[in-house]
Amino acid sequence: MGEPGRERGQKTRGEHLRVGVLASGRGSNLQAILDAIDAGRLAARVVVVVSDRADAQALDRARRHGAKAVFVDPRQHPDREAFDRAMLAVLDEHKVELVCLAGFMRLLTPGFIAAYRHRILNIHPALLPSFPGLHAQRQALAYGAKISGATAHFVDEGVDTGPIILQAAVPVLDDDTEETLSARILAEEHKIYPRAIQLFVEGRLEIQGRRVIIREGS
Ligand code: GRF
Repeated sequence: MGEPGRERGQKTRGEHLRVGVLASGRGSNLQAILDAIDAGRLAARVVVVVSDRADAQALDRARRHGAKAVFVDPRQHPDREAFDRAMLAVLDEHKVELVCLAGFMRLLTPGFIAAYRHRILNIHPALLPSFPGLHAQRQALAYGAKISGATAHFVDEGVDTGPIILQAAVPVLDDDTEETLSARILAEEHKIYPRAIQLFVEGRLEIQGRRVIIREGS
């Protein structure tokens, strides 16, 4: 298994990793990443935000931050492979070294994942491997889970199956609705996702099979 921090994304201290964010909607996780960068907690630069929706709030957030915002229209491409190739061309053009999914509502093709092997991260609103896929918070409530949470993980070919980097747990309360549980989980997403990205930036993530070992910082 490769060591992502030692591959193309590796930076020495002081340099800023070039991040591309893929987002379909609200973009609050994108905002958390941008805020962490502004606060000096994340040594990265969001160079481009790509969306499959022209009206994604994430694109506005990118523009406000001075990052390039690009809409790639799925209807302009005959199949998923062609759509992903169009996204890859945008990422390539911006010399993106790490791809962060932030509420991106499409499955990536194997070709895309191969192009950024071990350099794609995602944030999921449940404690994986519980409740992968859509509506994770609704799934947790329906199942009767007492604890749920958020997971930052590498992306592989499966649906939310890649090696786990960080997780945060939150209680599921008796009077929770999907909205209240989602809000409690979202607050944790916003903490752990920028942290996971910073660990990647520092080259401290070592993938050993399914496990991600977090090396000591120097
Ligand atoms: C988050 O709950 C994230 O975990 C999931 O999609 C949602 C995106 O929210 N993958 P936002 O667009 O980042 O606000």
